[in-house]
Amino acid sequence: FTAKCLRGQRLLITAGPTFEAIDPVRGITNLSSGKMGFAIARAAREAGAEVTLVAGPVHLPTPRGVTRLNVQSARQMQDAVQSQVSNASIFIATAAVADWRPAEFSDQKIKKDGSGDVPAMSFVENPDILAGVAQSAQAKSGKLYCVGFAAESHDLLRHASAKRVRKGVPLLVGNIGPATFGKDDNALVLIDEDGSKELPHASKDVLARQLVEEIAQRLTAPLGV
Ligand code: C5P
Repeated sequence: FTAKCLRGQRLLITAGPTFEAIDPVRGITNLSSGKMGFAIARAAREAGAEVTLVAGPVHLPTPRGVTRLNVQSARQMQDAVQSQVSNASIFIATAAVADWRPAEFSDQKIKKDGSGDVPAMSFVENPDILAGVAQSAQAKSGKLYCVGFAAESHDLLRHASAKRVRKGVPLLVGNIGPATFGKDDNALVLIDEDGSKELPHASKDVLARQLVEEIAQRLTAPLGV
């Protein structure tokens, strides 16, 4: 692990799930623990970067020296990212952002009326935070290096490669293997314009350090999407 390989860099990173409220006591979310994102935030800080971590609802301590902004919903996460991104030189999106949110929020708890009727619920699509940032002038001019993550249930390489191009990011990181959510270890595949490279099974802390090094190496190379 090359010491201080991110010195002078400013990292903005999203982590954890989002929570999309239905009413004051209910909502939809997912099983993301935030562990990978928090491990990357810690590794980047140790590598000398200034780190701002935008975290959805997770039960994890803030890594030492990292600035943390807590959010709940995808739209709050997007607002927090937009307020910070102009100061960043690297953006890493590890958050498992809810794809949809309930179309309407009920100010009052939706009551079960005893009739057996169930409430009808419709959804609207959430903004794609990563794709939006990757399309900004800051990213397109090479002043912001963007990294996305992908969790696919099958055909990881093909889907993740397509996702890299669709999201417009130079580096896409795929979670290898099912059910990484909540675990302390993982295996990753890094996909860039030159092809793919595996980071074999290891703890998320070890993988985070390896990923930080891989990113540091790419920052000196020309950008390609
Ligand atoms: O499209 P999908 O959700 O599979 O893309 C995953 C990548 O995009 C992750 O890097 C995730 O953090 C990011 N993303 C996002 N905003 C969304 C959905 C995904 O930033 N609404």
